[in-house]
Amino acid sequence: MKISPQLQQVNYPPISEVKQWISGREFSADAPLVDLCQAIPDYQPADGLINHLQNKLTDPSMSVYSPDEGLLTVRQSVSAWYERRYGAGPNEDQICMTMGASQAFWLAMLTLCQSGDEVIVQLPAYFDHPMGLQALGIKPRYLPYDGATGMPDPQKIAAVITSKTKAILLVTPSNPTGTVLPPALIDEIYQLAKKHDIALVLDETYNAFLPGETKAHQLFEKVDWGENFIHIASFGKTFALTGYRAGALVASAEFIYHALKVQDSMVVCQPRITQQAIAYGCDNLDRWVEGNASMMQQRHDRFFSLFNVSKNPFTLCASGAFFAWVKHPWTHLNGRQAARKMADDYNVICLPGEVFGPHLDDYLRLAFGNVKLEQIELAVERFYI
Ligand SMILES: Cc1ncc(COP(=O)(O)O)c(C=O)c1O
Repeated sequence: MKISPQLQQVNYPPISEVKQWISGREFSADAPLVDLCQAIPDYQPADGLINHLQNKLTDPSMSVYSPDEGLLTVRQSVSAWYERRYGAGPNEDQICMTMGASQAFWLAMLTLCQSGDEVIVQLPAYFDHPMGLQALGIKPRYLPYDGATGMPDPQKIAAVITSKTKAILLVTPSNPTGTVLPPALIDEIYQLAKKHDIALVLDETYNAFLPGETKAHQLFEKVDWGENFIHIASFGKTFALTGYRAGALVASAEFIYHALKVQDSMVVCQPRITQQAIAYGCDNLDRWVEGNASMMQQRHDRFFSLFNVSKNPFTLCASGAFFAWVKHPWTHLNGRQAARKMADDYNVICLPGEVFGPHLDDYLRLAFGNVKLEQIELAVERFYI
């Protein structure tokens, strides 16, 4: 039996790799492990949501498949949530409930692309995106990271569009940099996608963690948004449900119709219990979500002020949402070696820059969103080396 050569070229999941570095190690109380590796809310789901699910477990329908796209009432709750958050949003036919944003991404790519097609990927890229594309035989067409602006450049995007290009893929707020794309820039890139009749795919996994009153974009206000725009959502981060695998694909009804062919053969449907959790969250948890977003903002601000000091040899290049994107001080080490050194010598785990794409060896991603406010100082002090 042979493993597919195409898959052999794909990177191993980086969080698993980094966690293996510390496997079996004991950490003493005076130098505990600081885990800046994975972006997961460190708090529990809302009590009301848990109580709601406890009651739902005795409902006999809970153990049965739902329609592939998810229950109508659930999609209506999600639609209303978008209306409130974006000022406009998809209707229930333009939503497919998925096993996390991860599966929504696969649905989008399999519905858009054939093997050999290209997707434009802005660096630094969320590592699962290139992994997924490569596993599918789709070529990521990388756009280099511009450290000066940290933003994608529409002209540079336009320059790499070919007849094989099916989509421009962007993540806002970015994983790994936390950078939030301004609505005007998103609109400009959407117009470019429209001009070339390709898709703008926006992964907005962290859209509940935008600073203040910021609106992510106005694309849903356009009557024909679905012709060239696909939105990827994760309720895992929004409602602290990462283990429930709670996501959605938002696209035109026609796109969803075809995506359901993949959905049916891949997972049939999102688990019903997850659908109940999401609907409860959308119907009841606006204030709870706002509270957590402002808590994350406080963590960010504290991290930012403590990290950005002259005695710190690491340079903070960008930050936001759950993340900081920093340059490490060791010119003779790549990102993997630098991250390993942080794990071995300073009891800190974080991700090497190069897992987010080529030529990013000078960087590390720190997911401070997992660290409680009162522990941020302890975490940042590890970098004062
Ligand atoms: C940008 C981005 N997209 C997608 C995902 C996956 O989200 P989910 O857990 O909903 O599949 C993550 C998780 O960290 C992410 O950072």
